Amino acid sequence: MGNDHGELMHFFFCDVCTILRMDLPELKAMGLQKIAAAKDAAELFLIEKEFFGRKSGHLTDAMKVLQNLSPEEKKKKGRELNLIKEALEQSLEERRHALTGAAIGSLATEDALDITMDLPERSRGHLHPIPEFIRRIEEVFGRMGFDVAYGPEIDSEEYNFDRLNFPKEHSARDNQDIFYMREEGTPDNRMLLRGHTSTVQIHYAETHKPPFRMICPGKVFRKDSDATHSPMFHQFEGMMVDKNISLRHLKGVLVTALKELISPDIEFRFRTGFFPFTEPSLEMDMKWRGDKETREGKWLEMGGCGMIHPNVLKNCGIDPTKWQGFAFGFGVERPIMIKHQIPNIRLFYQGDLRFLKQF
Ligand code: PHE
Repeated sequence: MGNDHGELMHFFFCDVCTILRMDLPELKAMGLQKIAAAKDAAELFLIEKEFFGRKSGHLTDAMKVLQNLSPEEKKKKGRELNLIKEALEQSLEERRHALTGAAIGSLATEDALDITMDLPERSRGHLHPIPEFIRRIEEVFGRMGFDVAYGPEIDSEEYNFDRLNFPKEHSARDNQDIFYMREEGTPDNRMLLRGHTSTVQIHYAETHKPPFRMICPGKVFRKDSDATHSPMFHQFEGMMVDKNISLRHLKGVLVTALKELISPDIEFRFRTGFFPFTEPSLEMDMKWRGDKETREGKWLEMGGCGMIHPNVLKNCGIDPTKWQGFAFGFGVERPIMIKHQIPNIRLFYQGDLRFLKQF
């Protein structure tokens, strides 16, 4: 207790006597010296506070003490004090300026942007396996001179069936004869979600002069649903029209492209098939690999192909006595399933990252 009191007294005594003694030149010298020695803006701020602080700054205190002096002394000391104030203010300002300049100047050496710094790793997305495979299809067939075409997903019965040589009531229409648009089309030419990309054969052939080669990837819609079928899936159509085209060209193009797309050691087989728009028609199967217990060694149908039926060429204004061609329509999901041993086609559409991240 006694100690506390003593310290208080000491403070009081010192304050009053230094200020009363009013050694103003000394105060000024001390201020200027401190300001000149300040190393940065923060230190300068503290010095400013020490001298100009409203509560207990040296100059503020001195002002207070002035009030107790005689009018004459007050005037004299007041003027002196003002000059000191101005000098210190100016010095503060100059020092502040110098320090800011120095800080900016030092950026080049001390704070320079370090472009060698390792940035935190950013996660990057990638394409879904279906568009990724479609890109590769376009690239591989593109190298063989095939143009890439796209057609509408909603099309007319005329393009989906009639001009592809489907007889009106033929059962070959059945699995595609389903997703009709209520509001569009006419009773004898309704609009529907296309059941195959073969519609684009017609769109392309009626707007291009042979010889030509095209492929067309896209979505198709059917009345099918199980582990290897989905009501929506993807196909890629191919068509080549030229002179003296035969099944040999078809086989050569398909086997070369699919081996490159899936794997060189993939096994194929061709079976005879039926499509209204090709004659002769074939179906191509590929052998499952990997899934030893269930599917290994079993065949999975990849798609259909054949020589373009003369009626289809005629329907597009192409003379079938001068031009022949082959066409094929393959699934996109199934070759990927074989390539990566994917057991169920639905995995492609569920958006499950555990699946998607594996590609
Ligand atoms: N469009 C047929 C289907 O989807 C496949 C096919 C295309 C067959 C071209 C022959 C020629 O089943």
